[in-house]
Amino acid sequence: MSILSELKERFRKALLGMVDDPADLLELVRRGQDPKFGDYQANMAMPLSKRLGRPPREIAAEIVQRIEVADICREPEIAGPGFINLRLKEQWLAEELSAAVLGPRLGVAPVTKPRTFVVDYSAPNVAKPMHVGHIRSTVIGDALCRVLRFLGHRAISDNHIGDWGTQFGMILYGYKHFLDAEAYRQNPVEELARLYRKVRSLMDEQPKINLAVLTETAKLHAGDVENRRLWEEFLPHCEDEIDRVYRRLDVKFDHTLGESFYHSRLGEIVDDLIKRGVACESEGAVCVFLDVAAVLVPMIVRKRDGAYLYATTDLATLRYRMETWRPDAILYVVDYRQSLHFQQLFAVAGMLGYDNVELQHVSFGTVLGSDGRPFKTRSGDTVGLEGLLDEAVRRALQIVSAGDDAKPDGPELSAERRRQVAETVGIAALKYADLAQNRTSDYVFGYDKMLAMTGNTATYMQYAYARVRSIFAKGNVDVDALCNSGAPILLDSPAERALALELLRFSEALDLTVADYRPNQLTAYLFDLANRYSTFFEQCHVLRAETDELRQSRLLLCDLTARTIQKGLELLGISVVERM
Ligand code: ARG
Repeated sequence: MSILSELKERFRKALLGMVDDPADLLELVRRGQDPKFGDYQANMAMPLSKRLGRPPREIAAEIVQRIEVADICREPEIAGPGFINLRLKEQWLAEELSAAVLGPRLGVAPVTKPRTFVVDYSAPNVAKPMHVGHIRSTVIGDALCRVLRFLGHRAISDNHIGDWGTQFGMILYGYKHFLDAEAYRQNPVEELARLYRKVRSLMDEQPKINLAVLTETAKLHAGDVENRRLWEEFLPHCEDEIDRVYRRLDVKFDHTLGESFYHSRLGEIVDDLIKRGVACESEGAVCVFLDVAAVLVPMIVRKRDGAYLYATTDLATLRYRMETWRPDAILYVVDYRQSLHFQQLFAVAGMLGYDNVELQHVSFGTVLGSDGRPFKTRSGDTVGLEGLLDEAVRRALQIVSAGDDAKPDGPELSAERRRQVAETVGIAALKYADLAQNRTSDYVFGYDKMLAMTGNTATYMQYAYARVRSIFAKGNVDVDALCNSGAPILLDSPAERALALELLRFSEALDLTVADYRPNQLTAYLFDLANRYSTFFEQCHVLRAETDELRQSRLLLCDLTARTIQKGLELLGISVVERM
């Protein structure tokens, strides 16, 4: 249950007798900014006053008189020009928490109307190593899938890999001219990466090679037997390469239908566009003309030489997804630089009659280096993703080892265990640092910042989790028995009450996360929760609580905190460790 949606529902009923459609007014029911004025606030009396031509305080009074919230809240208060302040009853908070203690869903009800989402993310162009730019799409897309599924939606993940583009022309050309056969036999992935880099640097210098690469690509597309055979030989190696990264990141896909999968469908989609009058021939090419601010802009779907484009493949992909999965929404988690492409794609989708589907470009900004420019190595190359993971893990190992060495009763972790913890902590830091950003902004990449033990980082959250969990070991508490004991939750002190309210906001945080597809709503929530917990822990004795009843109640709050952090991190694709 989400407190906010419950309150909105109560307001909706109260407002129905006053206006025909209160939907927009319900957006004005919000979490209060200052606990002095209550937990939630409703500000619709002011806009409603204009609509109804009556003073706002009078309207607020009428709403308060109509609304039925006595089971949840104390008597609502009207403040200032007509704010309605709501303060939840401790008794009600305690009951909701007691229910949450019992189940694995932590008080989050599944949605009543599940939707089907196709989530298109990661989608690297294979045959070249993954780089820093691939982090964002991969972790944001994965987190969105996890949250959607937890909320009860169907999320189909589809990795639309680039397995058909010029980069294959490059390795085909490289293979034919510069192959080190022995190196290829021993480690094909590495040799293909070397060939890719070699041809790439040659292309910058020699236009002739550019042309040769395009010819190899065109031959592949035209069904040339040798190029096709080589492509089939290369592809599994390319997939091994990306799968290794996905395993480390703990990211899985339901489908990997790359560009090549759609190759045979491209002619058909162009013919169909022409037949429906959506596309037409223009100077030998086939284009769809789109009206952008009263200017007709062409989107080419077939070039003069017969070649198809990225846009053509995306149209075929869209059709396939619509026919195969009948989704309610398709999310494209792709770099903001492709905004124009998606605007055009969505416009054409409308012309094809796909108007009953929510098409979203979930765009994101760039990862920057400390100089504020796109993150590059000293030599100016883009930074390889695996190298980043290794470095994050290496630094995490230092932190974990130092922390363990400094423990008052001596180190607790074996060398092997330290390495495992470091892998979890290092990868988590990298993912969380990305997810905690507002996705539309650029952000500066920095190991120290992401592995910091204070502030909104994975390391801080993982420590918070381990610290809460350590209480149960220290106090020899059987958590399951405690949860099933029916021990009541008591919320007498402000810190306990504040923690309780935050725990019950989990559902609200997840709703916010999917409302605009922003995982940073969830990281922000987890950070708030950890801070509320810190205050609670400073102000309230847990193991040494004044009474047995209080001790049990506080242990239940600790357990819920640990489980909510664990679940929240899990939904971000991040694991916890019991000891750090
Ligand atoms: N492979 C593309 C790139 O690296 C991203 C593909 C995104 N998905 C899509 N359906 N266009 O730029």
